[in-house]
This record gives sequence, C-alpha cells and structure tokens, in this order.
Amino acid sequence: MYLLAMRIIQDCRKRNTLKKIKDYYFHKAKSDGYVARSVYKLEEIDKKHSLLNSGDHVLDLGCSPGSWLQYTAEKVGEKGQVLGIDLQGVKLSLPKNVKVLQADIFDMKVQDLEINGSMIDVILSDMAPKTTGIRDADARRSYALNQKVLELSVSLLRSQGALLVKAFQGEPIEQLRREFSNSFAQVKLCKPKSSRSESVEIFLLGLNKK
Ligand SMILES: C[S@@+](CC[C@H](N)C(=O)[O-])C[C@H]1O[C@@H](n2cnc3c(N)ncnc32)[C@H](O)[C@@H]1O
Repeated sequence: MYLLAMRIIQDCRKRNTLKKIKDYYFHKAKSDGYVARSVYKLEEIDKKHSLLNSGDHVLDLGCSPGSWLQYTAEKVGEKGQVLGIDLQGVKLSLPKNVKVLQADIFDMKVQDLEINGSMIDVILSDMAPKTTGIRDADARRSYALNQKVLELSVSLLRSQGALLVKAFQGEPIEQLRREFSNSFAQVKLCKPKSSRSESVEIFLLGLNKK
C-alpha cells in the first residue's frame, strides 16, 4: 500500500513537471510570435550546428502549421528561398520568399521540389506519420517517410548540404543511421531540450553531403 501511494505521488510530480515544460514552450512560442512550440527544437539544433544561413535554399517537409517556416524564412533572409510541403494547408501570412504546396510527399518527384531550378542547401523534415499507438508500427511508418526524404535528398541536395529529419526511436533508427552514413560525412542524433523526454521522437542530422 505504501509503495503504491509513493508511486502515485511520483507520477503526479512527473506529470506536473512535464506540464510546466509544455506550458513554458507553449507560452514562449505565443510571446515570440511563433505558431507552434516545435520551433524551439529547430532553433536549438540550428544554433548548435549552424544549419541555416543567409541566402540558403531550404525545403521544409511537413511544414504545417508553420513555425519552422517562420524561423527559416527569417534565417535565410530576403535572398534565401523556402519551399514548404504538407498534407495540411498553412494559414499563416508568410514573407514573399516562402512558397507552400499542399501535397503528400509520397506523390512528389524531384522536379516538383526544385527551388528555381537550383540545388537545395538544407532539407528539413519534421514529418510525423499518423500514429497507431503501437510503437513498432509507428517507428516503421516514420522510417518509411524518412526513406522517401533520403531518396529525394540524393538528387535535390547540393554537395556539402545538410538534411535534418525527425525519426521515432525503435528498431529502424539504426538502419536509417547507416543509410545516412552512405550519403553524409557526419551523422548525428539530436534530442533537443524542448522535445519531451518521454516522447519517442529524435532527430537525425546528416552534415556535409558526399
Ligand atoms: C509535427 S507537424 C510539423 C510542425 C511544423 N514543423 C511546424 O513547425 O509548424 C508534422 C506534419 O507532418 C505532416 N505530414 C505527415 N505525413 C506527411 C506526408 N506524407 N506528406 C506531407 N506532409 C506530411 C503532417 O500533416 C503534419 O502537419
């Protein structure tokens, strides 16, 4: 009985802490003018690895509701270009250098994703599959999305370019990491602070495309 009571107290404390973290990033996004708190995951990875630079051409896959588009557009500036793709529309008003297509990535070909006919500097994918709650099945769906992104990146990304994808932890992550190593000189796993520790999401970053 005592152990059960202790367990319940610990669970409540953990849930309260998680809620505070959730509320912190939710409120921060609101006050910073971002449409979603997922922006802070990209910001942290970008600050650590200097991913996005002025003038870059960037593809943002799974871009709705649009916080990564907002952040990226500001980082690349007027001389840069951003193309966002998502199954859902984006309701935000965005700068002129940002274009959004509502589409399924599985239906897209390399030519549909070129920006002004030139190679892409950075490909970002925050795409998440519809989850079933079955961990292995969800990890496989996420893996299928990332394989498609990796396949597109072979033709779209310039030499020395970078690819950042969200992945679900599980068996296929090691396979994906090996596949990244065939295309990138450096491969890193990133778990940003703003990503909840109990979440299965993790980011895989390929730097210096071969
Ligand atoms: C976590 S949200 C992205 C949030 C976004 N990075 C932001 O900052 O606002 C994941 C998105 O992936 C999109 N998505 C999932 N599967 C997709 C697919 N096959 N093709 C295009 N988009 C997809 C979903 O519609 C969803 O909007």
